[in-house]
Order: sequence, then C-alpha cells, then structure tokens
Amino acid sequence: MNIVAIVGSLRKDSYNRKIAEFMKNRYKEKMDIEILNIGNLPLFSEDIEDDPPTVVKEFKNQIKSSEGILFVTPEYNHSIPGALKNALDWCSRVDRVMKDKPTFIVGASNGNVGTARCQAHLRQVLNSGGISAIDLPGNQILIANVQDHFDKEGNFIDERTIKYLDRVVDNYIKWAEKLKS
Ligand SMILES: Cc1cc2nc3c(=O)[nH]c(=O)nc-3n(C[C@H](O)[C@H](O)[C@H](O)COP(=O)(O)O)c2cc1C
Repeated sequence: MNIVAIVGSLRKDSYNRKIAEFMKNRYKEKMDIEILNIGNLPLFSEDIEDDPPTVVKEFKNQIKSSEGILFVTPEYNHSIPGALKNALDWCSRVDRVMKDKPTFIVGASNGNVGTARCQAHLRQVLNSGGISAIDLPGNQILIANVQDHFDKEGNFIDERTIKYLDRVVDNYIKWAEKLKS
C-alpha cells in the first residue's frame, strides 16, 4: 500500500516524527510510507485556494495519489497542532483530496492522556464535509509519557507499544484493502 504520513510536529527532534520514521522502516514490507512536509505550507486563505502556491499543489497531489493517510501527531493545548489544522484546511477545499481516504491516527505526547483530546478533535475534523476521510473505529494508538518509550540514542524501544502497533497496523491494512475491493 502506498501511504502518506503527516506529522503534526515541526520540531527537529520530534518524537512523533521519530515514530513515523520507525513505522516507515518497520512496516516497509507491508506499506510504502512517504512522510510529507507540512512546515512549508503557507497559511490557508480562500483568496488563493483555486490557484495555490506550487508547494500546496504538490502536497495535495501526493495525498490524491496515495491509498491512505497516516497521522502521527502530538497534542497542543488540548487540540490539534496549528500546522496540522492548516494542512487539513488546504485539503478540505476545491479538489478535496482526502475524501474517502482511509486514515489511521497515532499520537504521542509527554502528558498522561497521550493525545486523546487531540485525536477526538482530529476525528471530528476528518468527519467534516470538506474533508470526508474515513477511519476504522477503535483502531488507534495513544502514547502517553512518550519520553519513556525512547532510549538515550533516540530509538523507539517500548516492546509492548510496538507489539500493539503491529496489531493496529495489520487491522488498518486489512480494512483499507477491503475498502478497495
Ligand atoms: C504549544 C504546545 C502545547 C502543548 N500542549 C500539550 C497538551 O495539551 N497535552 C499534552 O499532553 N502535551 C502538550 N504539549 C507537550 C507535548 O506533548 C510535547 O512537547 C511533545 O513532545 C510534542 O511532540 P513532539 O515531540 O513530536 O514534538 C504541548 C507542547 C507544546 C509545544
């Protein structure tokens, strides 16, 4: 499967980015994950939505040609990071490139609720008329106290979480493949 991944954090040493990279490597036999850049997207404006800058056109085309979307995101102030919301707003208009795409959400934060509030908001946005993406209910990963899941060299090492991730990824692939038929 050809999957695009959108990471909600722009931070250089982002745990969420490291998890996306870990998934790209671990599941390479099952999915071809391309991690997209949302940090270079301009702020959305309706004034330019019909003929947006090239960087937006390229971003939307990558999503359009994908078979699914993986979100890996932290929670910011009990909600979705602004950069991620901006990317979603671009995708919600004109050609609505996320429509009917099977999505999968992973979230890691250093708080105790592991992005639960962000994920609830993200699902609400994905269900909006403009986006209309779909997800597999209950198939989610919330990683709390994310700093405890990495070693000193920055490797994602928590075996229990990794085993769970394996299961949830398999569920996602089975579901997304079934949707195609
Ligand atoms: C602007 C901002 C708001 C944050 N708000 C929350 C929050 O609401 N809940 C939470 O668990 N962590 C919050 N955090 C802490 C993040 O979980 C932590 O910085 C995490 O490492 C960010 O993910 P990253 O490593 O992928 O950049 C916030 C961090 C920032 C910078």
